[in-house]
Amino acid sequence: MAQTMKAALIKTYSGVSGIEIGETPIPEISGNEVLIKVHAASINPADLLFLSGNYGIKRALPSVGGMEGCGTVIATGNSLVARMLKGKRVAFVSEIYGSWSEYTKASAMTCMVLPDHVSDEQGAVFFVNPASAMAMVKIAKQHKSKAVVQTAGASALGRILVKLGKAEGIPVISIVRKEEHAQLLRDLGGQHIVNSTAPAFEDELKRMTHALGATVCFDAVGGDLTGTVLSALPDGSTLFQYGLLGGNTTTINADDLVFRQKRITGFWASDWVKTQSIFELLSLQGSMKKSVGSQIQTEISQTYSLSQTADAVRQYAANMTSGKVLLLPV
Ligand SMILES: NC(=O)c1ccc[n+]([C@@H]2O[C@H](COP(=O)([O-])OP(=O)(O)OC[C@H]3O[C@@H](n4cnc5c(N)ncnc54)[C@H](OP(=O)(O)O)[C@@H]3O)[C@@H](O)[C@H]2O)c1
Repeated sequence: MAQTMKAALIKTYSGVSGIEIGETPIPEISGNEVLIKVHAASINPADLLFLSGNYGIKRALPSVGGMEGCGTVIATGNSLVARMLKGKRVAFVSEIYGSWSEYTKASAMTCMVLPDHVSDEQGAVFFVNPASAMAMVKIAKQHKSKAVVQTAGASALGRILVKLGKAEGIPVISIVRKEEHAQLLRDLGGQHIVNSTAPAFEDELKRMTHALGATVCFDAVGGDLTGTVLSALPDGSTLFQYGLLGGNTTTINADDLVFRQKRITGFWASDWVKTQSIFELLSLQGSMKKSVGSQIQTEISQTYSLSQTADAVRQYAANMTSGKVLLLPV
């Protein structure tokens, strides 16, 4: 086997301009790690944050870009869990190493064996958003919220949540910023959609949250929208910030916290999974596999080769709602 591979390397934390295609050593593995031949790798909002040095983790540079993908495990460390994955086609998350490369390494704990009927393309987007959407439904139930509010409602995650919510009897109030995104959600069966640019947005949102009993919100945008949404929630509600699409500052109205018992906190899937037992995680994976093709289906807009990574990232960043852009390293 060759000692080096082609990869999209992040040379500096300076956005797309920091990406360079080059050769790098195939990673070494040990213990609980597996070596994966990558079939397809995704580009997510987290990767855009990572490129600019604003994600929750940083890797020593130069580093392979990306975090999620699908591939075949070709070698494993010594642990039993890792060895059980040998030869299996998996969806993986590799925060430790990256995914925009011909090969990658990941912890066996962040790999999920894919059913045969799941394509490589769907496999490359089968982990982060579907698991997060499932986690959101679980959190809403734990908070005894009868419905959920979500911003960036037409995102890939938002679309999964609408369908999961329907299946689980938790209506989702989706906040979008464009009318065509409202229509897109209606076509998927979304029933509670509100446009943040409409003049009656605040009143309409307040009416919906109170009528449906939505006391949990998942906000991916931040900025002024967070405070507006928090104010529209019933007293005692909790808002989970889980994305930074609108930048990394958030404005909230202090009286919501002081006088209306509302709370704002964060959600990061990487941390959330650490709070789950191995049985809960296996059950989550089982539910995800059952839902693939029905509730869990992600729109893929385009595929690019590794050497076109910078173009692929630009294309994705400018057209996020059109669907995921994938890198195919072969
Ligand atoms: N915390 C976690 O563990 C976790 C896990 C998974 C995902 N996420 C977050 O979930 C969010 C959605 O991810 P995804 O992969 O589903 O995204 P996606 O499919 O790429 O879609 C992104 C969506 O966000 C909208 N958007 C972008 N900037 C916006 C802004 N400033 N204000 C309002 N809407 C904006 C886009 O609409 P336009 O077309 O109008 O731009 C698009 O519909 C991201 O913030 C991501 O980081 C967090």
